[in-house]
Amino acid sequence: RDAGYRCWLRYEQIRDEKLLEEYRTWCASVVFRPGTPVLCSAKEELIGAIKSLLAVEVALSASPNRDKFIMVGKIGSHSVIDCETGGIEAERLGSQGFVVKTVKKPEYQFILIAAGSDQGILYGVFHFLRLLQMQREIGNLNIHEAPVNPLRMIDHWDNLDGTVERGYAGKSIFYEQNHLRDTGHRIRDYARLLASLGINAVVINNVNVHREETGLIRGRLSMVVKMAGIFRNYGMKVFLSINFAAPIELGDFATADPLDGEVKEWWRKQVQEIYRRIPDFGGFLVKADSEHRPGPFTYHRNHAEGANMLAEVLKPFGGLLIWRCFVYNCTQDWRDQTTDRAKAAYDNFQPLDDLFQENVILQIKNGPMDFQVREPVSPLFGGMERTNQMIELQITQEYTGQQRHLCYLVPQWKEILDFDTYARGEGSTVKKIVSGGLFQRKNAGFAGVANIGDDPNWTGHDLAQANLYGFGRLAWNPDLTAAELAEEWIRMSFSNDQTVIDAISSMLHTSWQIYESYTAPLGIGWMVNPNYHYGPNVDGYEYSRWGTYHRADSKGIGIDRTVKSGTGFAGQYQAKNALMYESSASCPEELLLFFHHVPYFQRLKSGETVIQHIYNTHFDGVEKVTELKEKWLQLQNLIGDERFARVLARLDEQLEHAKEWRDVINSYFYRKTGIPDELGRKIF
Ligand code: GCU
Repeated sequence: RDAGYRCWLRYEQIRDEKLLEEYRTWCASVVFRPGTPVLCSAKEELIGAIKSLLAVEVALSASPNRDKFIMVGKIGSHSVIDCETGGIEAERLGSQGFVVKTVKKPEYQFILIAAGSDQGILYGVFHFLRLLQMQREIGNLNIHEAPVNPLRMIDHWDNLDGTVERGYAGKSIFYEQNHLRDTGHRIRDYARLLASLGINAVVINNVNVHREETGLIRGRLSMVVKMAGIFRNYGMKVFLSINFAAPIELGDFATADPLDGEVKEWWRKQVQEIYRRIPDFGGFLVKADSEHRPGPFTYHRNHAEGANMLAEVLKPFGGLLIWRCFVYNCTQDWRDQTTDRAKAAYDNFQPLDDLFQENVILQIKNGPMDFQVREPVSPLFGGMERTNQMIELQITQEYTGQQRHLCYLVPQWKEILDFDTYARGEGSTVKKIVSGGLFQRKNAGFAGVANIGDDPNWTGHDLAQANLYGFGRLAWNPDLTAAELAEEWIRMSFSNDQTVIDAISSMLHTSWQIYESYTAPLGIGWMVNPNYHYGPNVDGYEYSRWGTYHRADSKGIGIDRTVKSGTGFAGQYQAKNALMYESSASCPEELLLFFHHVPYFQRLKSGETVIQHIYNTHFDGVEKVTELKEKWLQLQNLIGDERFARVLARLDEQLEHAKEWRDVINSYFYRKTGIPDELGRKIF
């Protein structure tokens, strides 16, 4: 097996003799009576991990037979467990939380892993294994955890032909030539990885639902049945992306009008059959009226009418209907300076607040544009109080270096989640909205676009695994810090050696800003090669139909999105934020060009002019990539050769490509403006 395959579930044998002894006294005996598939998964994981970590045989029994042991079970299933958890715990833990606690009695001592549900037990087991892998003290545990977000979902952009849209780590692990790949093991290992983070939902096909994938709801349903079986054993529900025009595309009707009774009846039949074969099916994800995908607009219906029809059909089965807000005009005229793509999602959806069914969740990308390295938060968060919302983050690094550049995204996500919308006064953060807490909504959560493929190490760049890890853990608890998550991930994936932890942590923590510094400046985004979205091309999207412009001329750059003189986008925020963005003096500098068109000679707080800032950050960014590489080189003998060499090769590539970015961007602005670099560095 490839050294990166096991990711953070490596279970490498512990070398510290004292610790090994201590752990063995607790873990060599396990009391656990698994009765269901999920509990069997938990048992297998626990026993396998203990054997591997501690090189010990494990005695599994139904009741205690030693003076120290691990006890796993459901609250209500065993008097010892109930005595230790007390009546109230089940309620506090909700349906997916758990307790991990060390119990000390005169007769015996044990570590209790208990929960109100099978899923909770699975999560508790993974939590306990995390402690062992991180070599934590286990003699005095008293942990209660419950997930903050109800829905913790991974979205796959996998197509049935085996390609992955915006996938940078090989082909799909699910499909090949319109069939399921014969890699049951791999899908199972993937399910283990996700379950270890607390992920509870997986969308198994691309939001762009093409011809073959349209059939997943009918002719190809048996594939979905199989996948659901694998994920179910790890506590996850399977969802499908559907084609809004399926009634037409599958040849049954000439219309997909959501208000046509026959169309609705057609959907009801499909849904009925899906639930007959997959009783715990999660529901549908829909990209409608977006980038040429069909939707209710064709029939002059709005998004609420489209979503509600499907939601009503899913409702009797407990299914959810997730509707994406990534709706904008993708055939804009670049000459038109009044239409603003950033405004589109809010304009389309905000007026529909209150119209959506209870089992509809709007899935909103973190920013108003499209997963750029820097964007403001979407004003829909905090703009719709009476509608279920979830946040969509992109784990796959489409615009953030495509897993060839190192870019740890957790710090970016933390900023987004901690952003205060002021919707209900101070403290109305995005994380409180998407947890359902702020507006008291039951259906809410996180979705992340997957970054994995069939590369032997799943993510291509070994360090990109940290993004999947960080996403899943944040979906469980958005209050965890980027530093904590990096440390957890490094300890489990690489080593508990402090030198390794320090070096990789520092690489991860600086990486997002480094990437930002040598790519598009000050929040402007989009200076990439069209379609591929990799590599510098300043005007690549400037004269296109995509609504993605920088408006640079010889005097200034940026888009005026103010209410006073621009597109008015700033006015979509709650008053306090609207005011902040409206003025270039109070607008956060990293977003200056997103909101304002400014002259190159405008001074930033640092005293630098905008143009000098562009030059400086681009020169500096390349230097910083060199430092990343130096840090990595220190680890030569501290981690395995295979991963060491692979990451080194990526860093070499990053360095070359960062230079390309630097020189293309700096030359572009130098040529456009004729303003020389104050420090006289080489610009072409
Ligand atoms: C981006 C991405 C597309 C994707 C789209 C979406 O535009 O480049 O590949 O389909 O987002 O999220 O729907």
